[in-house]
Amino acid sequence: MINRILTPRELLVGGGARHKLAGLLQSLGVRRPLVVTDPTMVKVGHAAEMMEGLTAAGLGAGLFAEVVEDPTDLSVAALVAAATAGGHDGLVALGGGSAIDTAKAAGIVLATGEALSALKVPRIVDLATMPLVAIPTTAGTGSEVTRAAVITDTGANEKMLILGSAALPVAAIVDYELTFTCPFRVTVDTGIDALTHALEALVNRNANPHSDALALSGLALIGAHLETAAREPQNAVAREAVMLGAMHAGLAVSNTSTALIHGLSRPIGAFFHVPHGMSNAMVLPLVSQFSIAAAPAKYAMAARALGLAPASAPDAEAAALLVPAFQDLNRRLEVPTPRSFGIDPDRYRALIPEMTRQGIASGTPANNPRVPTPEEMARLYTLAFDGSLDSDL
Ligand SMILES: [Fe+2]
Repeated sequence: MINRILTPRELLVGGGARHKLAGLLQSLGVRRPLVVTDPTMVKVGHAAEMMEGLTAAGLGAGLFAEVVEDPTDLSVAALVAAATAGGHDGLVALGGGSAIDTAKAAGIVLATGEALSALKVPRIVDLATMPLVAIPTTAGTGSEVTRAAVITDTGANEKMLILGSAALPVAAIVDYELTFTCPFRVTVDTGIDALTHALEALVNRNANPHSDALALSGLALIGAHLETAAREPQNAVAREAVMLGAMHAGLAVSNTSTALIHGLSRPIGAFFHVPHGMSNAMVLPLVSQFSIAAAPAKYAMAARALGLAPASAPDAEAAALLVPAFQDLNRRLEVPTPRSFGIDPDRYRALIPEMTRQGIASGTPANNPRVPTPEEMARLYTLAFDGSLDSDL
């Protein structure tokens, strides 16, 4: 068995690591970096701090602050145009998953000249791109260390998954101090996204010993510290732990891909504009309930890593604690159901066949320990609307 393990060439991890950006770019041969970010990062001052540092180091840096949430083929095209017009030779993504994925996709379009719709899965995009340094400002997506980007196809209203080494940043700066400004809701949503990355890597059909170790570390760090990080935004210990946990979860999931939680969640996000981590959280208890019997030993490992069960607990007993714990987590962290989020029940019901089609087409449900039939997918969507569990399981 050969496992293909991809990680960035360099990771700078720790409080204040962001101040090392200019030297990192110089070591990569980048002279004219384009900083890719969103208006919030400009408002809170992170973008200005970064631009000042780059200018002081003599780098001809440009700023593209037009990243949108749920990036689209059109917003990627705007970045491609800006990078070309400015003659830039490297990208620095500063922000959450949206900024990082926008930069990844633009780098791939610049390298291939192809439309993103021609590059999505099942194609695997392995090729060299201009250097991308990812600097996450949320502890969640793990996009700074993954070989995946998610971009919405505006024509088809579908979230496209772009996969391959071309989507892996050459370097990442993981500085938890950038998350002090992250508000409660964003901290929770991105943190639960990271939790699902760790869980889906652990139970994945593509799991290997490398991904398992990172997934268990991610679960332990996020499980122990997420709630504190959300309620006490300036708590450095909790912020650092969740940031590291999200990175470990990202490293794990990058080498396994996601599974049914993400497969079910992406179409909900695409059609109803639910934040990515929140739509994952909405289906986390239900998908876990659906899947546990197919991989009880792995789910038991997750329960132990989350501190729900002692090491001595038998697998079935430990795994059974997960579903109520995830329901309780959602309650404590105020995760809505699709209904309480305000989604129209009739529109949701009408879209279940299309969400099922898109979910299966994304490929990730096939990585789940229990692979659902289209009928089972549709049933899961129906149950998820009110946050229900399956009473037949
Ligand atoms: Fe995710």
